Amino acid sequence: MTRELLTVDDLHVSYGDMEVIRDADLNVPAGDVVAIVGANGAGKTTLLDAVAGVKAIDSGDVRFDGESIVGEEPFERIDRGLAYVPERHRIFPEMTVRNNLQTAMIPAADVSRDEQLDRVFDLFPILRDRQSQVAGTMSGGQQQMLAIAQGLVIDPDLIMFDEPTLGLAPKIVEDIRDTIVDISESGVTVLLVDEQIRMAKQVSDRMYLMRKNTLQYLGERGEFEDAYQNAVDQVLE
Ligand SMILES: Nc1ncnc2c1ncn2[C@@H]1O[C@H](COP(=O)(O)OP(=O)(O)O)[C@@H](O)[C@H]1O
Ligand SMILES: [Mg+2]
Repeated sequence: MTRELLTVDDLHVSYGDMEVIRDADLNVPAGDVVAIVGANGAGKTTLLDAVAGVKAIDSGDVRFDGESIVGEEPFERIDRGLAYVPERHRIFPEMTVRNNLQTAMIPAADVSRDEQLDRVFDLFPILRDRQSQVAGTMSGGQQQMLAIAQGLVIDPDLIMFDEPTLGLAPKIVEDIRDTIVDISESGVTVLLVDEQIRMAKQVSDRMYLMRKNTLQYLGERGEFEDAYQNAVDQVLE
């Protein structure tokens, strides 16, 4: 039986009087890549913020590996192995690549800092080569790779990406897509928010559409063709 690593049940989230998420349910099976697509302003970022604990919820449950994490601080969720790479994540441009990664680290009892870094460099050889470079002098794509690497440095069980390809050139979008596949193949579960439905469809095992303040389950890999068309139609509506 598949294990649900992340489960969201009947979630409600507001900004002031405005309810942005209503009755949202989400299941992320361990080992899968789950994508959430939806129009600008639909509430995708708010959902990830709520799961990460940086935005308070009105009601509902969020469970990680079977345990409710509602009310936990963001750092407690990180300690559980839940990583978050927010939209337009900012690296520290005046620090080196290596120092950026070390800043994102939490001490893990079982591995040394060098081992943690090595594991991340294996996924991002370019960052190993450039570890002494000042981060702000790298290209936009390389900086986004570094932002992703910062999420991975805690050795998460699940990593959430909010619009990781936003504003990047098509070639770089492909690189990021390949990186997400590599991350998944290395055993990390992925929750991906992307307005690029095409990319979400290419990498995901399961897809949801955020629309009308809630999440709509679109289906599993293989059923995507119809779901994809529906999603496109609804987003364009
Ligand atoms: N900090 C905030 N304060 C008030 N309203 C917000 C805030 N952040 C987002 N919103 C509103 O919540 C809705 C959902 O936004 P968001 O979660 O960013 O959507 P998405 O990520 O799908 O584009 C939008 O109507 C947006 O204007
Ligand atoms: Mg957003």
